[in-house]
Amino acid sequence: MNKVRVGFVGAGGIAKNHLHNISKNDRAEVIAICDVKAEAAIHSGKEFSAIPYTNVDEMLEKEKLDALFICVPPFAHGDIEEKAARKGIHLMVEKPLGLELKTVSRKSEFIKQSGVICSVGYCFRYLDTVAKAKEYLRDKSIAMVRGHYLSAFVSTPWYREWDKSGGQLVEQSTHIVDLVRFLAGEIDEVYANMSLQVHKDIPNITIPDVTSVNFVLHSGAVGHIDSTFTQFDHRTGIELMGNDFRVVIDGTSLSIVEKDYTISYNSKINCYEEQDRAFIEAIVTGNRKLILSSFEDGLKTLAVTLAANHSKDTGLPMQLSSFSNSKFSIS
Ligand SMILES: NC(=O)c1ccc[n+]([C@@H]2O[C@H](COP(=O)([O-])OP(=O)(O)OC[C@H]3O[C@@H](n4cnc5c(N)ncnc54)[C@H](O)[C@@H]3O)[C@@H](O)[C@H]2O)c1
Repeated sequence: MNKVRVGFVGAGGIAKNHLHNISKNDRAEVIAICDVKAEAAIHSGKEFSAIPYTNVDEMLEKEKLDALFICVPPFAHGDIEEKAARKGIHLMVEKPLGLELKTVSRKSEFIKQSGVICSVGYCFRYLDTVAKAKEYLRDKSIAMVRGHYLSAFVSTPWYREWDKSGGQLVEQSTHIVDLVRFLAGEIDEVYANMSLQVHKDIPNITIPDVTSVNFVLHSGAVGHIDSTFTQFDHRTGIELMGNDFRVVIDGTSLSIVEKDYTISYNSKINCYEEQDRAFIEAIVTGNRKLILSSFEDGLKTLAVTLAANHSKDTGLPMQLSSFSNSKFSIS
């Protein structure tokens, strides 16, 4: 196959990361970059020798693309995925997949029927340390899970708005929810409390800055996730515990602890690079197993976070099965 011809929609923070990865990949080339902000498209177009667009329809019409990176904010996905999939363009879609479960569920079905390869940006799945943790846990029974995503405020304007980002759990801590699902199995029930405590003075803020989520796994194991952007630094992690063992992922490093020994690993890879390499490799070889998070998988993680938002509003625990069948929006 010739080089994979790649287009981008959204030329903001995360797109730059992917653009660097693709420009270094000798099996791919960046062809076109679309952003509703002309200067962002032009600036990235110059940097990566790509044609700038401000209209995604025009880009898809004029350029013959093999793959499209969708790096727009959660509220802005519209029907970009469907338009590209209809043309047989493979998709790399940033998390979260949207803010309405019904819309994203329909999209998932559409993508499946189209046959295109689709990867979702749950990059932690590609860490070598996460792979080691998964292998260790293969024959273990997990009893309890603790996760956290503790960070600083993100200044991009849409992040602070509930209707645009869905709040921190949907937008960022979704990475930890996804790791819970990847390492410990499906979540059946969630209950969440959220509140705005520290950042009340930020103009237009409508999202909580502290979130606590309890959940029950399909196995019967229980767990919780703490999420906040009241901090000045960035800490993420997850701890999975069972009979005389624990697996601790702290950022990108891993410790496996048993009664008499501890093994520690520091990740040797950049998970964003690994994820993008796997996506291009999957397109070139047709090997879909290289994709560690499909659209369907990303949809399940989204459902957990939206159900938690709903629980915050009702004050009641939410069963994922009934939420997925009946409740379809961010609150
Ligand atoms: N996987 C990760 O670790 C990771 C890290 C950061 C961000 N993200 C995700 O990536 C997405 C984007 O985040 P970001 O930090 O790059 O945001 P950003 O605000 O920096 O950039 C988004 C860009 O999209 C453009 N845009 C908005 N609507 C558009 C449209 N309809 N067509 C074309 N361009 C459009 C904006 O003008 C902006 O330049 C979010 O969903 C975020 O959660 C993922």
